[in-house]
Amino acid sequence: MNRSSTLFTAVSSWRRFPVSSASTMQRRLMSSKPVAAARLPKRVKLTGGKRYAWCACGHSQKQPFCDGAHRTLAPDIAPLRFTPDKEGAVMLCACKQTKNAPYCDGSHFKVIFQDVVKSVKGVFK
Ligand code: FES
Repeated sequence: MNRSSTLFTAVSSWRRFPVSSASTMQRRLMSSKPVAAARLPKRVKLTGGKRYAWCACGHSQKQPFCDGAHRTLAPDIAPLRFTPDKEGAVMLCACKQTKNAPYCDGSHFKVIFQDVVKSVKGVFK
């Protein structure tokens, strides 16, 4: 068997297996639900009248603000654009479970509690 026939056999055998396209693989990595970027809120100083984009998907590397990561990782989740009336420090949600987006409403305690319950269940298996 020469080198080209060996290569042909190898390529032929690859074709027997279903091949996922890059877009299919990418879709598997995408999330339709927000992921917690952190368990605690981020304290940030906002400027009154300035427009901000709060990350709603949790994939941004610039938490709590959007860096465009949702376009590839969570295309169904858009950032929340908001303009604060006045300047000041606020607590912006990082767990992405708040009912008062973009501000923290204490929902992160539920996320922390769920994590603790999961880890305790793992200990007593
Ligand atoms: S960090 Fe999400 S509710 Fe507090």
